[in-house]
Order: sequence, then C-alpha cells, then structure tokens
Amino acid sequence: MLFAGPAMYSFTVFEYICKGYVTKFPMGWSWNEKTEKAGKTGKVRYMVDAIQRQKTKLAIDGGEKAFGAMTGRPERKVGVAEFLSIAERFGFSEEAKVRLREAVSEGDLDPNGPHLGRYYGSASPSMGERFEDLAREQFAARHAYAVCNGTSALHVALRAVGVGQGQEIICPATGFIATALAGALLGATPIFCDVDASLQMDPSKIESLITPRTAALMPTHYMGFVCDMDPIMEIARRHDLKVIEDCAQSPGATYHGRPVGSIGDVGCFSISSYKIIGGGEGGMVVTNDDLLFDRIRQASEGGGLWRPDRFAPERYEGELFVGGNARLSELESAVNVVQMRKLSGIVSRHRRVWSRIGGQLADYAEIEWQKSNDPAGDIGYVMRFFPANDALGAKIVEALSAEGIPASYRGSNGGPDWHVFRYMFPLFAEHGDHCLAELCPVATDLHDRCINLGLNQWWSDADCDAVAAGLNKVLAAYCTIKESSDGSDTA
Ligand SMILES: Cc1ncc(COP(=O)(O)O)c(C=O)c1O
Repeated sequence: MLFAGPAMYSFTVFEYICKGYVTKFPMGWSWNEKTEKAGKTGKVRYMVDAIQRQKTKLAIDGGEKAFGAMTGRPERKVGVAEFLSIAERFGFSEEAKVRLREAVSEGDLDPNGPHLGRYYGSASPSMGERFEDLAREQFAARHAYAVCNGTSALHVALRAVGVGQGQEIICPATGFIATALAGALLGATPIFCDVDASLQMDPSKIESLITPRTAALMPTHYMGFVCDMDPIMEIARRHDLKVIEDCAQSPGATYHGRPVGSIGDVGCFSISSYKIIGGGEGGMVVTNDDLLFDRIRQASEGGGLWRPDRFAPERYEGELFVGGNARLSELESAVNVVQMRKLSGIVSRHRRVWSRIGGQLADYAEIEWQKSNDPAGDIGYVMRFFPANDALGAKIVEALSAEGIPASYRGSNGGPDWHVFRYMFPLFAEHGDHCLAELCPVATDLHDRCINLGLNQWWSDADCDAVAAGLNKVLAAYCTIKESSDGSDTA
C-alpha cells in the first residue's frame, strides 16, 4: 500500500509527519517534489524506515483487519422508486400511485433489493424462463428462447442456421420489412418471392428463385393468416434449405393442426405492443432442433451466460461463434408471461367473430376474398378482400365507413408501406436489384387493391350480426351476388 502511488505515499508520509515520526527533509524541495522523489529515488530512505518500523501485524498473520465492517450506509440499487416508476409508465392515476406508495416500502424488499437480471437474479425460475415455458407449450416446440424483439429473433435465427455474407434468403413480397432486414444485417441478399391470393409466399414461385447462394426460406404468416407450409417444406428439404418461419403477425395460428413456428427449422415471434400479444418489446425464438437451440442462444448471448460453464472450450464443432446480446429483460418477460397466458383466449375470440361474420356473407362477382391456406388455422383478426378496381374499392370503403364499419383501402395511389417489398427503401441501396415492383406483380396489385376490415375480438354476437348485415348491404349495393350451383343466391 505504501508504494501504491505518489498520492498514496504523499498521504502516508504526511500522516507520519503529523505523528512526529518524520521530521527532517532534504533542503530545497517543495512538499510534492519531496514526497514524489522520496518514493521514486529512495533519497529519503529514513522516512520509509520510520514508516516500516511502525508496521503492524498483517491480518493474514493474525493482525487486525485493515477494513473490517463497512460503516457507510448503502442504499438498494433498485427499490421502491423503480417499482413506482413502472406504475407511472403503466399510466396509473395519481391517486393509485399514492395508494401504491403507501402499500409498499423499502422494508418490504430484500435488503439488497431485487436483481432484475435474468442470470444470477433474485427470481428462480426467472421470468424469462417462465415466458419460455409458456412459449414451448403454446407453440408446441421443444425449445424456446426469449429475445428483445422480433427483428432480433429473426437475426439470431438466421445467424444460428449459418446465413451470412454472399448468401441469399427468400422472403415473401408482402409481410414486413424486418424479415428481409434481418438477413441483410448479416450480409445476405433478400430475394422477394411473389404471393398468391392468400397474400402469402406463393410456393409455386419459390423454385425459380433458388440459386447456389440460397440459404434459407423465410415464410411470413401474414396478418393472422397462415402460409401453405407443406409445399414450402417440401421444396426446402429437396434443396437442403433451412426454413425460418416469421410468425410475428400470427402467434397462435395453426397449419394443419400444428402451431406456426413449429413447422420449419426455427420459428420467430414478435411479442410486442404492436402485435396481438405483448406489452412493450419482446421476441421469441422456438425450435425442435437441439443443436440449433444452442446456436440460437450463442447468437443471442455471445457472452456465454447461457452455457453451463461460460468459459468452457467448444464442446462440439460449431458450438461457439461470434454472438451479440439479444436477451429479453426480466421486466418485459414479466409482462409477457401474462400476455402469453392471454393468447389462446384472444385467438378463439377472433375465430368466433370471424366465423360468425364470414358465415353470413354472400359471394359477389366483383370482389375476390383473400384465399386461406387453412381456414381452421387462421386467426382472422382482419378480413380482406379485393375489389375488381380502384373506383369500386374506394366506394365500398366509403360506404362501409358511413355504416360505422371500420375498413381501409390503399388503392394504387397509396403511400409508402413497409408491408410490401417495393417500399422497403432501406434495402434498396445495398440490394436494389431485387426490390423492383415488376418482380412481384401479384403482390404489387393485390396489396394496393385490398380492402382491410379490422375485426374486434370483443364484438358480441349481435355486433357480428350487425357488421355482417352492413357488409352485405354495402356489397350488394355495388356488386352482383353470385349464384350458387343449385341456383340460389349465396346470401
Ligand atoms: C412479420 C414481422 N416480422 C418481424 C417484425 C419485427 O418485430 P419487432 O418489431 O418486434 O422487431 C414485425 C413487426 O412488425 C413483423 O410484422
């Protein structure tokens, strides 16, 4: 300690002078020079000798401890104020916040306060683990890993399956920009696959896009509807490609009885306030593949906290590689544990509303309903149909709005929209050749010519009946009811 540095021995020498042990100094030095030089040159060896004579026994030899118990009074790093800050963010009223403040005090917490990290934290199991348990159950997957958002879920999934520089990924032309961005972030080129009348990746268009650089297919289950996964999986297996399902917009949907996300190699979810479940930001990655699961965690937590021994050498080839940190926070997990429990109720309410309204609608000659790849598996939170032309679409939506039925129509003059490939501007600079509108004419046409009717899960049967009647009223006014094969109309 004595020789720890100039400041330290300045202080120590000063102390000994005050105590009268050191009284003589070489002439002509200022105090700092004197003390500095004493330490550096040894010219005032007698000072040191004086100090050393006073040395007491080391604690290690049974002497008194230099630093026994701390006398400063620590405050918890995280305590009641943080808890109340969350309550404030929730938007509780001033009165409720006063009641909460009265109800909880620092004394109610562990003396060290909560440790809100997922690992080494004060909750066991952690909220992250509980969120994952629910995801495994809900999405019928052997493994689930919680990440900070849906984009990161896609990014780590792609990294885990080995997508990188110079490779290509095949994304649907309608969905959301994040799917393509996740691949581009890794240096891969997104190639857009046109859609069919389901607005999902058209399996018949995939094979012509496959090149020796193709690494993965990324079907997006778009807006509560499901992709046609059987042909997609068949193509992928035949060409030895990985399939990463983007389920951000359809958690809880199923395809031929299997939850989306459990069909491909990896399933990615966004559990965020912008989706049907999620309180803030959050994401989930699921897989049935043990090795891929390790790689997903390595991609998500390059610091290795996920490993039984984070510093252990590679246990098998491919286990270790450069990863980032996409771990979900415990606070978000706490919210999303509750959200996950609400998912099946949300899905079944939407399905009830969908089928009650859908069951009452006639077929009309001038409109085409969005195709379903599995009517029993869709969630159905938005009803979509394509009018024959722009003018008809605009008239229908105006009339529906007047009836009090919420609907929207883009039309061919609609503004930029990141749900369709041709507006995904951030990709253009690096991958522009694949973002031209004419490459995916069906997506371009149908996305513009689509009427969207948002369905409310809380509509009662009477609400559904009123909406169905309003829809038939408007559509019958502008379109021709198609006759069924037995000659009756379809209403
Ligand atoms: C299909 C799709 N994939 C990925 C994402 C990205 O999710 P997040 O916003 O949680 O990053 C979204 C978000 O809108 C999405 O719709």
